[in-house]
Amino acid sequence: MAVQFPDDATVLAALTLATRAPSVHNSQPWLWRVGPHSLHLYADRAMQLKHTDPDSRDLIVSCGATLHHCVVALAAMGWRATVHRLPNPAEPDHLAAISLSRHTAGETDVALAAAIARRRTDRRNFGSRPVELRDIAWMGARVARMGVSLRRVETTTDFKAILTEAMWQHALDSDYAAELVTWSGRFAAEVGVPARNTPETDPAAAVPVRVFAGAALDQSPHSPPEYDNGVLLALGTTGDDQTSRLRAGEATSSALLTATARGLATCLVSEVLEVGETRKILRSEIFDDRHYPQMLIRVGWAPADADPLPATPRRPVGERVTRLDGTPFVGPGDR
Ligand SMILES: Cc1cc2nc3c(=O)[nH]c(=O)nc-3n(C[C@H](O)[C@H](O)[C@H](O)COP(=O)(O)O)c2cc1C
Repeated sequence: MAVQFPDDATVLAALTLATRAPSVHNSQPWLWRVGPHSLHLYADRAMQLKHTDPDSRDLIVSCGATLHHCVVALAAMGWRATVHRLPNPAEPDHLAAISLSRHTAGETDVALAAAIARRRTDRRNFGSRPVELRDIAWMGARVARMGVSLRRVETTTDFKAILTEAMWQHALDSDYAAELVTWSGRFAAEVGVPARNTPETDPAAAVPVRVFAGAALDQSPHSPPEYDNGVLLALGTTGDDQTSRLRAGEATSSALLTATARGLATCLVSEVLEVGETRKILRSEIFDDRHYPQMLIRVGWAPADADPLPATPRRPVGERVTRLDGTPFVGPGDR
């Protein structure tokens, strides 16, 4: 049977959607290479946040998110992806090789792909409408198929104390603070977290958001933290190797797109997992030491009067995508 592979326009469309994936501090730490019959995902170590993410776990999770976005986009365009994770042990930054075959896009494929452009990290307080159990169950079922466990986390005062401990450790770390200032409070950059997407951190919130530089996003005046009826979900994997982290990133993307497709707002929370001590405590508290926590996700309904959030910027797709031989994939007109 002849090898099937989409034309360049389809590949470009899929990789443009893949680039909409969330990434730690919007660092977009991935590179895509297009072969004659396959797509390849590489980690871009130059984009590692050395003081926020010293063991590059967030970087690999971010790459998993772009991988899943790519698979979802291709599925909606009529291509089923077969993913080989870490295909070459001698090349650990080669995270995935994807081969493709034709299929007929289903309703779910189209709904998840449509959610890519709508998804935002919403750090504001959520509204009082409760999240339905069946929505959480959908997310849980989808990530379970990827070998990832989802648990609901009770946001007790003990939990908040663990979160606050991680925030304090970061607050006292001048290298972390310098990195944060470089990567946030942005206005026109192609990477980093824009000021217009970050509200002030409210210590009264059940899950205070990460402190970013130059927060310039207003909360809805009618949605104080005590009305926030959002839930906090944790994703965990049995191992903590590269493949587990990559899969956790794929599952993060799956949970976010599932929630977005159902109209819910989402926000990733990883600070408490970036500090070794607090990650260890959460492993025991949430997963009885049986799974490694890889991501926390706040999910809720945006208040009815909340303004839509602007999309965060991305680097031009031509900077992230080349052919396998290193030549440009995207012509100057497509950037
Ligand atoms: C691994 C990872 C960790 C993240 N951690 C946080 C976090 O702790 N706090 C936060 O507000 N956003 C976090 N984010 C969200 C990113 O800041 C966000 O995806 C990025 O700024 C792009 O914006 P967008 O998601 O609206 O497209 C994280 C994203 C990833 C993939």
